[in-house]
Amino acid sequence: MRARIIGTGSEVPPKIVTNEDLSRIVDTNDEWIRSRTGIRERRVSDDGTATSDLAIIAAERALTSAKITPRELDLILVATCSPDTLFPSVGCMIQNKLGASGIPAFDLSAACSGFNFALSAGAAYIESGAYKKILVVGADTLTKYLDWTDRGTCVLFGDGAGAVVLEATDSNCGILASYIKAKGEGGKFLVMPGGGTRDPENKKGRFIRMDGKEVFRFAVKALEESLVEVLKLAKLKMEDMDLLIPHQANWRIIDHVMKKFNLPEKKVYVNLMKYGNTSAASIPLALDEARSEGKIKSGDNIVLVGFGAGLTYGANVILWG
Ligand code: ACO
Repeated sequence: MRARIIGTGSEVPPKIVTNEDLSRIVDTNDEWIRSRTGIRERRVSDDGTATSDLAIIAAERALTSAKITPRELDLILVATCSPDTLFPSVGCMIQNKLGASGIPAFDLSAACSGFNFALSAGAAYIESGAYKKILVVGADTLTKYLDWTDRGTCVLFGDGAGAVVLEATDSNCGILASYIKAKGEGGKFLVMPGGGTRDPENKKGRFIRMDGKEVFRFAVKALEESLVEVLKLAKLKMEDMDLLIPHQANWRIIDHVMKKFNLPEKKVYVNLMKYGNTSAASIPLALDEARSEGKIKSGDNIVLVGFGAGLTYGANVILWG
């Protein structure tokens, strides 16, 4: 049995915040942000919108695209590091809103790597024969946790959600290989210190603290390793890859990988200029957009590759069909 993607969907909040807008609240400018990151604008959710509000819309669109009803699902898996509440999980909230009561639903936390981790878990459930149809969602609203006085982080992130429906198939298409890794020793380079059980009163502040240079160094190596290893597991060569969908954090990180493996621009999907880093939503949002733009066709080998806090990293190879 393999896990095939039969539907995709995504959602972003309507409010656009441009680099120009940010230059009015913090000491930065459009030229710096574009040349160091590639980002031109990002979507920011309003106060009344939480992660599950975006996730449910992405999920409903993925179900419509898969042409199945919520009652046909066997499991809901949500990758997020910015849930509405510590509990109940966003997975249970989506299950309730979809009217799919009874099936298991839970969240998985691997920050920006979350979607790749959840996809590999979903594929493993299907390959084991445990479930036949799984909704996998990646959703985050990290702008709620930004320190808007820290120009090193507030220019990088945006909000969004993306989802796919996985179905068991005995055909040769679907998820061919998954490669997921973590290096906890690097956790200190990307941290949200406040609000957890180490600081329940949130004295340290629930804001993203990041050593950008260390994360950059890690990210380049993590993407290179993941790409090489996942292709090896899928028994494919670099030239067999039709489209690479990397985590949309920084154009310069993606550019490093393209140069290293001599990848032409048409083989790499990039939409970070419009959304910035949407964390666990980044890859499924890009996958949904690439699909709706006609950039993915049956028989294509697609590689999803990313990295995130933890530090975590990994990739999935999909033979589309
Ligand atoms: N506007 C203007 N100047 C800035 C800004 C800004 N927004 N941010 C930093 N600077 C300044 C710095 O203060 C520094 O000034 P100085 O030389 O006077 O000290 C100068 O620009 C250079 O700063 P660097 O930190 O060296 O800039 P760098 O080229 O490394 O880019 C960046 C910084 C964009 C953060 C980069 O390091 C990066 O992208 N790192 C990876 C981050 C990432 O991908 N994180 C997501 C992880 S995923 C997750 O799980 C959440």
